[in-house]
Amino acid sequence: MCPASSSCLCFPAARQASLSAARQMSTVRAAPASRSVAFGAAALATTALAGFAYTTSTNAPVEAAASTIPIAGVKGTTTERTFIAVKPDGVQRGLVGEVISRFERRGYKLVGLKLLVPSKALVEQHYGDLKGRPFFNGLVDYMSNGKAPVVGMVWQGKDVIRQGRKLLGATNPLDSEPGTLRADYCTAVGRNCFHGSDSHEAATTEISLWFGEKAVFDWKQALEPWIASDN
Ligand SMILES: Nc1ncnc2c1ncn2[C@@H]1O[C@H](COP(=O)(O)OP(=O)(O)OP(=O)(O)O)[C@@H](O)[C@H]1O
Ligand SMILES: [Mg+2]
Repeated sequence: MCPASSSCLCFPAARQASLSAARQMSTVRAAPASRSVAFGAAALATTALAGFAYTTSTNAPVEAAASTIPIAGVKGTTTERTFIAVKPDGVQRGLVGEVISRFERRGYKLVGLKLLVPSKALVEQHYGDLKGRPFFNGLVDYMSNGKAPVVGMVWQGKDVIRQGRKLLGATNPLDSEPGTLRADYCTAVGRNCFHGSDSHEAATTEISLWFGEKAVFDWKQALEPWIASDN
């Protein structure tokens, strides 16, 4: 089960591979009705088998293979990873696609994605360093009360932790540089829509907490030499 939440709708990229393989099977063409009964029966059996394979594979998503790199990658390399979240206010505002688009167009690789309502305990752990601050209880409630879900992502690439924070902007949107996500969409520190890991240590803790090894999928990006080479 997903380590983050029992209500998680987890979409590791690996699942897509299994779905498309299943779809290829399910599009096997049925034989024309005018052929012999035996041939028709064979076609029926094939269709039934394909249907069974489709159902089975959609109900049993493939989990990511054991990775040889640490969960937050190796800092300073193209394997570095960060945890980015669209908080409930960002999901309500329809900003999930905008976040994905900004990281994608920068050349970063999506290696984890999920929609979930996190438990109170998970959010308390995630923001553990802020315990005791006057806004802590309100922050935990707004993140975990289920009025809207959180979309969690793991992004990979060079300097992605630091650059991810730059793409988001300063904690207080009123201090965020123009062009950053928070400056473009937010005005209140309590509704700043997005989260980004602030260090490699934090990324390690947060990816483990929200995803775990099996939900982060290491895949080969065909364009990588065109994006991340120093010649
Ligand atoms: N003064 C405040 N009043 C209300 N909420 C606050 C305040 N300061 C921080 N927060 C909330 O707590 C979150 C975590 O604060 P933190 O200091 O870790 O900033 P951050 O690292 O920029 O944000 P995040 O960890 O969400 O990426 C902020 O994003 C914001 O939602
Ligand atoms: Mg923080």
